[in-house]
Amino acid sequence: MHGFYRIAVLPGDGIGPEVTSEAVKVLKAAEEVLGPTFRFQTGLIGGCALDATAVPLPPETISICNQAHAVLLGAVGGPQWDSKRPELRPEQGLLQIRQRLGLYVNLRPAKVMETLVSLSALKPDRVRGTNLMIVRELTGGIYFGNPRGIFSKDGERYGVNTEIYREHEIERVAHRAFQLAQARRRKVTSVDKANVLETSRLWREVVTRVSRSYPHIELDHLYVDNCAMQLIDRPTSFDVVLTSNMFGDILSDEAAMLTGSIGLLPSASLGEHSALYEPVHGSAPDIAGRKRANPLAAIASAALMLRFSFRMERVALAVETAIEKVLKRGVRTPDLPGRSRPVTTSRMGDLVAAETVKLLKSPKFRPP
Ligand code: IPM
Ligand code: MG
Repeated sequence: MHGFYRIAVLPGDGIGPEVTSEAVKVLKAAEEVLGPTFRFQTGLIGGCALDATAVPLPPETISICNQAHAVLLGAVGGPQWDSKRPELRPEQGLLQIRQRLGLYVNLRPAKVMETLVSLSALKPDRVRGTNLMIVRELTGGIYFGNPRGIFSKDGERYGVNTEIYREHEIERVAHRAFQLAQARRRKVTSVDKANVLETSRLWREVVTRVSRSYPHIELDHLYVDNCAMQLIDRPTSFDVVLTSNMFGDILSDEAAMLTGSIGLLPSASLGEHSALYEPVHGSAPDIAGRKRANPLAAIASAALMLRFSFRMERVALAVETAIEKVLKRGVRTPDLPGRSRPVTTSRMGDLVAAETVKLLKSPKFRPP
């Protein structure tokens, strides 16, 4: 199959399958113009994998992902698996795949679209123009550090987790952040808790050292508590926000809320040899199977795949522009407020697919 991009598709649970198939639809539509380009292979992850194989990330899925150029993931989790032992919860599938594929950098853009500025939890004037990128370290820190566990001593139980960062782990994610900033507004804000934590002091020192290789990029440091506040106070002043696994988990949810439209936000998790793309929203079991899910975050995640994994900038931009155009026309899924009657998941996918094809066919459509 030389010449094809192999994409591992892991739909997962809840609305995962519905939104992923719209993303695949858009990629297949692009092939009308590009010619045959992609090969899709599907695998299990999360709750559906637990049901079928008793583990959240079966070996077969790992091998499908290892053979692929990129992974497109839907979402994992749902109430029916909540009572499982911690190592058998659907979320473990996510944590394991990040580690197994070495996906150490997680990109979570939060961009406020003018058409949807009223969705923000903040006043339009404060949030208008917000366009930031959280760069979260994804395979280290307290999420994976040892020792960990719940132990007993002197008749009482205690829980332990360990935050640990090695220099090379900080270095490689910092490089990614600075490289990204180069193609954006050339500003990196590194977030830590260096007034309290040793891992953060090392983080700050290493990030500062890495920054010397990028003299044209402005670097500042914020404590995480202060950053949480500044994100609300002056969201438009942030460009790239670089931070650890745990802080990035928290701040990326906060940043998502700035846009108010979590149904629109994509993410990319990148390693040296592998990459995984997924919508930021979860599995939303309450609306699963009801044709109400917004597929735009999954479709935008496919656009990131085109950009970062396949270097197909023009096609990526066509998909992103198609999303904006369809929204500007007033087309809405039920999660977005609008005047007209909301469309179904697959109708939204159809419209974005058609618009993407139209843009790709237009010789005038060129990346800036
Ligand atoms: C996320 C999620 C995951 C995380 C959970 C589901 C393990 O919150 O991707 O942000 O904490 O990384
Ligand atoms: Mg999270």
